Amino acid sequence: MSRTTKKTEIVTNIEVIFPADINHHGTLFGGRLMAWMDKAAYYAAFRYSTQPCVTASVESLDFAIAPQVGDLLDFIGKVIYTGSSSMVIRVDVFRTNVHHENERRLANTGYFTFVAVDQKGKPQAIPLLLVETEEERMLWKKGEEIKTQAATRRRK
Ligand SMILES: CC(C)(COP(=O)(O)OP(=O)(O)OC[C@H]1O[C@@H](n2cnc3c(N)ncnc32)[C@H](O)[C@@H]1OP(=O)(O)O)[C@@H](O)C(=O)NCCC(=O)NCCS
Repeated sequence: MSRTTKKTEIVTNIEVIFPADINHHGTLFGGRLMAWMDKAAYYAAFRYSTQPCVTASVESLDFAIAPQVGDLLDFIGKVIYTGSSSMVIRVDVFRTNVHHENERRLANTGYFTFVAVDQKGKPQAIPLLLVETEEERMLWKKGEEIKTQAATRRRK
């Protein structure tokens, strides 16, 4: 029987940075940002697979911009690659600096691998991602590299 295919869906989460989210340098605590990105990735994984999912791995993250209190962050998540039960999700984080003419800039990008699981934590089959555009093909290739790298890490 052929496998069901599905288009990716773009999901968005929004967070406002409050004083409780700040580190001792007066900028956003990196761990909070990672948690928000993980949450956005989970949302994308769940919407795509329509099953409970767990984070299996996260690629390295670089912090080039330091968001501050009052900034708005929006998190754009989408599935870019699918295996049998795993999905690679790209999360782009855009920062709106409310103190500088509402300037909105890409602040970070991360790649998260989620696995759809049943109530006992056993991996479950997911639909195959439908890839049609050149951009989707490039993203699929990136996701495939991430899957291969994760498998290599696990074998070490
Ligand atoms: C992720 C998890 C479900 C994998 O279960 P498993 O029994 O080892 O599954 P398998 O080896 O059969 O692999 C299942 C899929 O997961 C992928 N996978 C497993 N470990 C992975 C990892 N560390 N990184 C990326 N993908 C991984 C496999 O490539 C496979 O993908 P595919 O089905 O698309 O080919 C399991 O290790 C787990 O529950 N981990 C804890 C998750 C968790 O608690 N996350 C929150 C941490 S804060």
